[in-house]
Amino acid sequence: MKKTLVIVGHPDLNGGSLANRLIVDRLEQESEMEIRNLAELYPDFAIDIEAEQDALLRADTIVLQFPFHWYSVPGILKEWIDKVLAYGFAYGSTGTKLNGKNFLLSSTIGGPVDAYCREGYNTYTIEELMRPLHQTAKLCGMNYIDPVISHGMIYIPDVYNVKEEVEGRAREHGEHLVASIAKVA
Ligand SMILES: Cc1cc2nc3c(=O)[nH]c(=O)nc-3n(C[C@H](O)[C@H](O)[C@H](O)COP(=O)(O)O)c2cc1C
Repeated sequence: MKKTLVIVGHPDLNGGSLANRLIVDRLEQESEMEIRNLAELYPDFAIDIEAEQDALLRADTIVLQFPFHWYSVPGILKEWIDKVLAYGFAYGSTGTKLNGKNFLLSSTIGGPVDAYCREGYNTYTIEELMRPLHQTAKLCGMNYIDPVISHGMIYIPDVYNVKEEVEGRAREHGEHLVASIAKVA
């Protein structure tokens, strides 16, 4: 298998995560995978741009693993995108370093699937809401792989969902993600 880089954008993977923690646990069983937990590496958001760009250069497939926060990526992941995908590296006439790499979004969505449509309370589809990331990949010359998405992933005891069911969906998500990575690698 070719080299895969997983950028984990959860703000608190080890303290405040159920779904993403289980998905990353599954990825950790794979070889040829470099997993970078941004909030652990950069608790103060001071991203080491060179180290992150070096990690991108080593990879053939780049996975962004994140919980959907306010219809977008969590702040630490947006900071990584803003700083690391820099002019002259990721875009611009000489910014060709990511050309031809695979780009795979893997996200856990709190709301149910039927909330993400015109008639639903979130109005837009996930495909529509992911378009800024799709276009980011395109501008960087990367191959946009079909995202791995799971719904109903929020767990708040006695309010949203049953813990065991969310855990089950997270494990399925992990298997699906590993299979998607294997397919493109
Ligand atoms: C700050 C914040 C914003 C969120 N925004 C959304 C949202 O826009 N849409 C949605 O469906 N779920 C939203 N959620 C729910 C998360 O997507 C869900 O809790 C998460 O994917 C579960 O993964 P975890 O257990 O690894 O944290 C939000 C949660 C938080 C904490």
